[in-house]
Amino acid sequence: MVLWTRLRVDPLAPGPFAEADLQIAVDVARDAEFEDLVSSALHAAPSSFDHSVHVLADGLDPDGWYWYRFRLGDHTSPVGRTRTTPSDGTTPLRLGFSSCQNWESGSYAAHRHLAAADLDLFIWLGDYIYEYGPGNQGVVDSAGLRVHTTPEVTDLAGYRERYGLYKSDRSLQAHHAARPWIVTWDDHEIDNNHAGLNTEDGQDPAAFLERRRAAHLAWWENMPVRLDPPTGDRFEIHRTIRWGSLAHLHMLDGRQYRDAQPTDGDPVILPVVGDLGVRTLAETARDPNQSMLGTEQREWLENEVVSSDPTWNILGNQVYMHGLDAFPGAAPATNTDTWDGYHGERLELLTNLTSNSDNLVILSGDFHSSTAADVRADPFDLSGPIIATEFMAPAISSSFPELLRGLAPLVVGFNPQVRHFDPDNGFMTCEVTSTTWTTELHRLNDVTAEDSDVAIAARFTVRAGSPGIATVEVSQ
Ligand SMILES: [Fe+2]
Repeated sequence: MVLWTRLRVDPLAPGPFAEADLQIAVDVARDAEFEDLVSSALHAAPSSFDHSVHVLADGLDPDGWYWYRFRLGDHTSPVGRTRTTPSDGTTPLRLGFSSCQNWESGSYAAHRHLAAADLDLFIWLGDYIYEYGPGNQGVVDSAGLRVHTTPEVTDLAGYRERYGLYKSDRSLQAHHAARPWIVTWDDHEIDNNHAGLNTEDGQDPAAFLERRRAAHLAWWENMPVRLDPPTGDRFEIHRTIRWGSLAHLHMLDGRQYRDAQPTDGDPVILPVVGDLGVRTLAETARDPNQSMLGTEQREWLENEVVSSDPTWNILGNQVYMHGLDAFPGAAPATNTDTWDGYHGERLELLTNLTSNSDNLVILSGDFHSSTAADVRADPFDLSGPIIATEFMAPAISSSFPELLRGLAPLVVGFNPQVRHFDPDNGFMTCEVTSTTWTTELHRLNDVTAEDSDVAIAARFTVRAGSPGIATVEVSQ
């Protein structure tokens, strides 16, 4: 795996803190006291990458925990802990996952609890930062909470500073130090709801490309990813991580290669309630060429799943695939930024993937609420077979809109594929064995409080060989 750090004197100061490239010592050991050293070597911390450090730790055994630290002059970093993957097919996998940590919407108490949890790895599904300026979230319950320190972020200095702000949180730091993270991005690492080079506010594509290059570089600098730094206009981050032959995790990029969200459906506007922010499912969404993944990534994914045979195939994916019809009518009323805007591609993709994998589990985020769901290739044809299972994790801190909070129970009522819904913050953890997948939903009592408790709100199981949610247990 990659060991990551970034050298700063002041985390909020823009740009590298020194002109010079630096050398940093990296110690890796089999124990937290560094008595049983595996390696101790110098690595580059280049000024051009804002003194970020990505060290590929090699010479490690499979299925082992390791401890690491960084040293520069008189300074020694806090100790980080990481682990390697097993090579067999029977070692259980315990993973946590979540997304969406708007600085202005709440504390990172969820990360504090995650840091203490007994998990092998953590999967981040996007919205690590939010690009917005201060106080423009319209978040009703954010009064008195933290605010962004700079205007909307659009350039390299801005993105770097924003990562510095988010990473100044001690709970987030502790969680990074506790275990390996496997990360992808969603929209807010660059700009809200962008799709390829299409933006909500119609930015000039050439200017947006520049902005995206800056955002990609700052993301790479600040994420513990086993990737080379971006060089061109595109940055390929989709990849597969293998937990022996028990589980293959396919991390997807649902933003960079996307076609624009469809606009040919009718907006759904209700009396009293107003605009639901959804559109009826129309021709563009039904067109299989309307793509979220892009041809190359989609072919790569299908090939990954077809060419190997793990017990479980996991998609690390941003937006829900299980479909959601927000209002009963002649056509489903859908959020076009989710897979519902890419309905035709989803139909083909899920059909192809599940013809080769009995146990496809989709992990999602983005929606600032959580679900456990049965997945059909066409979510709106309930006569079709359940072919996969989806868990959508709650947001670490980002808020679910108050209006939707009130409507959610009704909406869930006419979406029987959604077996459980919860609008609160927290995270999910999963225990994966060769026979059973168990997911626990951890819900924060009060996202605004750093010392908030967390409780298990629900538990779900999936049985290998039988797609869909097998059991739902809701805590009282
Ligand atoms: Fe988000």
